[in-house]
Amino acid sequence: MCGIIGARVEGDATPFLLDGLARLEYRGYDSAGIAVRTRDRALTVSRSTRRIDVLREQVDALDRDGLTGVGIGHTRWATHGAVTEANAHPHLDCGRRIGVVHNGIIENADALRTMLSAQGHVFRSDVDSEVIAHLVERTLALEPDLLVAVQVATAHLEGSWAIVVLDALSGRMVAAAERSPLVVARAAAGDFVASDVGAIAAWADTFVALRDGDAVELADAWVWTSGGMIVPPPIPQPSPFAAAALDLGDHADHMAKEIAEQPEVVAGLLDRRAAAVADGRLWTDLGLPGFHRLAVLGCGTSLNAGAVIASMLRSTGRVPTDLIVASEADRAVLAPGTLILAISQSGETADVLRALDRFDGRFPVLALTNNLHSSLARRADAVLDAHAGPEIGVAATKTFTAQVVVGVLAMLSALVTSGRIERRQAQSLVGEMHRLPGLLEGAYQASATRIPLLVTSVSAATGFLFLGRGGALPFATEGALKLKELSYRWAEAYPAGELKHGPLALVTEGTPVVVVDNGEPRLQANIAEVAARGGFVITIGGDDADIPAVGQEAGRRRLRAARSADRLPGLDAWGPLEAVVPLQMLARELALQLGCDVDKPRNLAKSVTVE
Ligand code: F6R
Repeated sequence: MCGIIGARVEGDATPFLLDGLARLEYRGYDSAGIAVRTRDRALTVSRSTRRIDVLREQVDALDRDGLTGVGIGHTRWATHGAVTEANAHPHLDCGRRIGVVHNGIIENADALRTMLSAQGHVFRSDVDSEVIAHLVERTLALEPDLLVAVQVATAHLEGSWAIVVLDALSGRMVAAAERSPLVVARAAAGDFVASDVGAIAAWADTFVALRDGDAVELADAWVWTSGGMIVPPPIPQPSPFAAAALDLGDHADHMAKEIAEQPEVVAGLLDRRAAAVADGRLWTDLGLPGFHRLAVLGCGTSLNAGAVIASMLRSTGRVPTDLIVASEADRAVLAPGTLILAISQSGETADVLRALDRFDGRFPVLALTNNLHSSLARRADAVLDAHAGPEIGVAATKTFTAQVVVGVLAMLSALVTSGRIERRQAQSLVGEMHRLPGLLEGAYQASATRIPLLVTSVSAATGFLFLGRGGALPFATEGALKLKELSYRWAEAYPAGELKHGPLALVTEGTPVVVVDNGEPRLQANIAEVAARGGFVITIGGDDADIPAVGQEAGRRRLRAARSADRLPGLDAWGPLEAVVPLQMLARELALQLGCDVDKPRNLAKSVTVE
């Protein structure tokens, strides 16, 4: 969603601002803008409702000689107010002295706007963020210190914000945050501020994340305040974005690269975590109380990853689970003894954070996130790092797989600690998980050869069905989500047995129906129902499948033998994780054949910071 960049460098700030904005593009945006201080102490503002490249052309046409090295930039993902240049950031005060970029939501913006308008302030946009510029302007009339003025102004705000305020008169720049991420960094090229470390990865090796209530002046020596008190600046941390992570290598796009990285990501996770599962250390190190029930909280792909983890916990440990769509959490009723597992790759998803507000500290919260500096990580009682590395493609791929593996390992460790499974059983289950990198790689190779041709046969279809049973169902759901968000085609996932209760009406001659075949014998009858109506069945499964990517022939045999058993061993209980690879590749290939941008699908954001 929205992104922030600020720079305080020698020379001209615009190349840094534009490059930073380009690196924020992956979060999704519909307008962008920059404001740079000029030598004659004014602000030059450029905004566009088109791509960063267009903004770059606009900026190239400016008289760059008069610009200084101090500026701010923003990518906006519209929530309040239409996509117009006037609504794009930066926003200015009446005197055009103060420039502001803002992420988050000012909940009392209407009341503040009414109050400020009554005092003579003139608004130029429809967006909540503009009130901040006018509040700072009003405060500066009485208090000349920008750092103090920003603190006074933010004391009037309700909601969430990450802001950077630039004063054209003094050239001072202040950043402040409350429930919205913001980082600052000192690098050889100068000082930077950004909503996402990735935006400044090219210049900064270390960074410091602002905590709620922090305000920082980026000056020769940083002035750091916390809750209004001056405090020493925190020690910078190494940036997780090695420059190499942004390099595409031989891949055509970030999504392709991130799909291909999954075997390596999983191998790395097993190296890091597997040894601490069977003796319970992985769980006990988290310092959480025991639990009788698990409530998984998340949205989109993270919720699907949670469904896989929950499926493992039920089938292997007989632990009851709830799956809570975060935006619907106010209707959830949790039993005593519940542990909340909140899953979010970004750790900034507003629906998840707001759901935790609703549970109000009554249940322990374990966060599973790819961002240890996120709001979610900061407010949870314990944190599991998904360790997927930077994911630049907006659609989640390797973070899904990493979340599943880390979540399953942690839950297995909890099962040992609570005596629900024997240490030896945990050891054998973890042993089976060591097959995963090979299974993922095999699925990748099989899909690379088969998927392009298969997709050509279905690229004209307007809708797709995805089916699965038992442990395969969350993967079918993830496959449908990936396909719709990337290719903009309708896609729905159903438990295969539900098909005959209504959705079969959708199947006509040529309707593509993707079946995640985990060897469940009853799937064959469901496939026959589709075929009888002329549906175009694509099976992702074992050796006899259209895409032979599920490497568990032994498991399939066990499954058949176990027909009515509800307790299945090993990976079969919650897999096939490797099926996600062809599902991701199917969605990507269809999107490419339809001419869609796979790294930046429309209307999708990497970090969804609104409810
Ligand atoms: C799917 C996707 C979204 C996210 C969802 C939750 O590719 O990108 O469905 O999974 O917005 O995001 P996080 O995991 O950041 O909470």
